[in-house]
Formats: sequence, C-alpha cells, structure tokens
Amino acid sequence: MLLQHTQNLPHQNRTALTGIFSNTKTLYDQLLSAPHDKSTRAAARLFLQEHLSIAEEMECELPANTHGLEQALEDWVTAKTMEVGQQYAAYLEQRKTGSPRRFFTSKAHALHFLQAVAPSKLVDGAWLYGTLTHWQDPRFHPLIRTYLEELGDGLAQMNHVLLYRQLLAKHGCDSPLPLTDDHYLQGTLQLALAYHGEEFLPEAIGYNLGYEQLPLHLLISAFELHELGIDPYYFTLHVTIDNAHSGHARQAVQAVTQQLPSSGSDADFYRRVRSGFQLNELGLGTRAIIRSFDLHKELVRMLDRKRIFGRQVHSDYCKLEGRTVNQWLSGPGQMPAFLDALEARGWIKRGADPDQSRFWHLIAGPDALMFGVFTEYEQRLIYEWIAEDWQTQQQTNDAGQQPSFKPAPGSRRKVSSDTPCCAADRSKLAIEPTPEPLAALRRELEQLPHCQRMARLISMLNPSQHGTPEGLLATRMFSSQMYQSPA
Ligand SMILES: [Fe+2]
Ligand SMILES: [Fe+2]
Repeated sequence: MLLQHTQNLPHQNRTALTGIFSNTKTLYDQLLSAPHDKSTRAAARLFLQEHLSIAEEMECELPANTHGLEQALEDWVTAKTMEVGQQYAAYLEQRKTGSPRRFFTSKAHALHFLQAVAPSKLVDGAWLYGTLTHWQDPRFHPLIRTYLEELGDGLAQMNHVLLYRQLLAKHGCDSPLPLTDDHYLQGTLQLALAYHGEEFLPEAIGYNLGYEQLPLHLLISAFELHELGIDPYYFTLHVTIDNAHSGHARQAVQAVTQQLPSSGSDADFYRRVRSGFQLNELGLGTRAIIRSFDLHKELVRMLDRKRIFGRQVHSDYCKLEGRTVNQWLSGPGQMPAFLDALEARGWIKRGADPDQSRFWHLIAGPDALMFGVFTEYEQRLIYEWIAEDWQTQQQTNDAGQQPSFKPAPGSRRKVSSDTPCCAADRSKLAIEPTPEPLAALRRELEQLPHCQRMARLISMLNPSQHGTPEGLLATRMFSSQMYQSPA
C-alpha cells in the first residue's frame, strides 16, 4: 500500500529529480557523503516537497485541530500505548500456547530484515539535526534532547547508529544488501529533514511525533530476534528510551505543544505537523519488508553476487554435469541450475541435517575448504535452504525450550563503571577521558568563544559525522555545555 503512494507520484514531479538524483538511493548516499553540496540540498528539498504533497492527502490519525491540543495529544499517545500493550500481551499469549513466530520464519529471515531496514536505522535521529541551532531556545530542548540521546550523548556504546552498525557486523551483515529505492525512502526523508530543518520545522516536529511512538512491531521483533539468538538490545533500547511517560514519545508531544503558540498561525503550523507525521507512512513498512523475504531467491541472489569473486579461483578438477565450477560461475543467471546440479550429484541433500551434505562441509567449520568465504548471514541462507523441512521439524521439537524474554525492564545494557551513563548527569560528560589526538581538538574547541564553539560543535554533529571519534567528542561537549549561558 505504502509503495503505491510513492509509485503514484505525479509524472512531472518524478521527472523533476533527474540526473544523478533520479533514484532515491543516490540521493541518500549523496546526503551522507556530500550533504553541503548545493545540488544535493536542492534535490533533498524537492524530494521532501514531493513526498509531503502525497502525505498531506492521506488520512491522519492525529487530533484534527488545535483545540485542546495538549490534552488531546496526550490522550492519543496514552490510547496508542495501551492498544499496543494489549496487542503485545495477546501475541505473548498466542506464543505461550504454541503459535509460531509471527515475523521471522528463521534466523536468515531475521538477519535479512536487519539489513533491509538498515538504511533508516543507520541515520537514526537525523530528522532532528536541524533543531540544534536553536539550543538557546528552551522550547527546542525536548527535540534537542531526543537528538542527543539518539547519539548516545557522545558515548559510543549508547550511540544508536553505532549500536546498529555493531549489530550488523556481529552477524556478518555489514556489507550492504542491494535494496530497492523504497527501502531508502524513509532514510532519505530523515536526511532531507536534517538539512532543511529550518524551512520544514513543523514537518520535522510531526515526523518526530510519529517516529517516536512505540509500535507493536518493535516489541515483536525484539522478542523474536532474541528467540533466534540475535541480540535484541537495539530494539529493546527503543522500547525503553521512546517510552510515552518520560521518553522520546513524551518529548515529541511536548515539542508540538511548546512550538504551537509561537507560530502566529496555529492552524497552518499544525496542518504542517500533521503532514510531517504522515511522512512516516511512506515507503516500505516493517511488515512489508518482513513479508518480502524469500529464502530461495535470497540464496540465488547472494550466490550470484559472490560468483563474481569466485569464478576464476576454483580448480578444474571437479566437474558437475560436464562443466567445471569456474564455468558454472562464469555468467549470471546460472545459480538455480548450479544448485540443481549440486543436488543431483549428491553434494547437497535437501530436507536433512546439512551436516550430511558434502557441500556444507566445504563451507562451515575450521577445516572447510571454503572457510571464511561466506559471512554468517550467507552461511545461514545456505544452511536453511539445505535443511528445509528438517529445520522446521527441529524447531517443533525444541518448542517450549525457548529462552525466556522480558523486553522492557532491565533491558538497558550496563556500561563500564568509569563511563557516565546517567543522562541526567550530563556535566560528567565533559570529563569523559579524551584520548590523544582528540585532546588537541578538544583544546582547540575549548578556546573558542561559547557561541562560536557551539556552532562548530553543531557542524560536527551531523548525521554522517556524529559516530566518528571527533563527532562523539563534539556530542559530549555539546551535551554538557548546552545549558551554560554564553560568557
Ligand atoms: Fe533511536
Ligand atoms: Fe527515539
């Protein structure tokens, strides 16, 4: 459904993004690599306008007008949170009585999901970057606080983008999957809002209000990732940090109501907040991404990508159906037939423990001839494709032995004791140990007059840079000095 909204862009608007920006992924990449480039900025602005024109035509669940808005929004958040809580309780009940996982059929499926949503997760919080310039205005503080918390207040182990990168790397998912433009749509909107925050402030506030609400899919994803042996911390962290009582969901409501009276034209401001809120509905939704997984197709795609690197390195000793392995790998589109040949020659025994397949022994284990060729994700695709029903049978036998899982309470990971992790005590961030050569940068920054320093720090907190050592230092300094009055 959401995909249709994008595909239905009026023709004259679609063609406006011509040249190097004719696809969303290119714009996404450009916004990360050259965000200050004039043509990148112009294309991002146009991209936003086009998608806002679609979003404002959609039905919106937010209160319709500004009358009694603060209370109405709080009621809306409360009702939504309760509804999600009830749906999650029903899900848990179903699982307890033996229902299968709702989202992920297997570990490969879950790892594919992590990669397919990566374009948005790797720019987490970006839509609020533009608010930093208003650090002297207390009405912006809820939004700025949210942004800084997305950045972990400058602590690498709490920076959401770095956490997600780490999660991908841990499971061999760090080389990007080829994804469609629609996978990049939300991430591109987030980056476009980052660099046009001034012009599209109401829209950024509305987008933030939508993004920071706790969705059911986050709870279910966390539960099922844990079940499949994948660390769900990134997801459980968002269950806690986005909470509606004191977390980002609450800050998002505050941001709307605190900005509203100053706008001079409440109705227009709020209309734009609603449009920004609707931007969340464009592109591929979580459930559509989960449904799109097809094990066989993913395996074939993966082998086809890998083929390019392996087509000249195999010996000609072994032949399958009269062709050497190098011949099988020599051109695109041959992988389904190659897999058939491996099966026909008994190298692969499908529907059985992969340990019984000679081909699997070439891939996995320290003595495997192809050890290190396939990442964990790629090995999972091969393993699950070989195992087929055998694996389902195993899962049924293992049912009831799943490790217990409590997503919300206590899910915040402990950080090392010499690290100030309490968000309320931001003054300690200033004394976070700074290794050389960062110490020189720190001294240089500290010598600047306060306002000049804050401007310089803001430039280092952009979505492409905040996860670097320099960006983390700048975030810690910004976070601890934001409330100081200019000297
Ligand atoms: Fe986040
Ligand atoms: Fe958040």
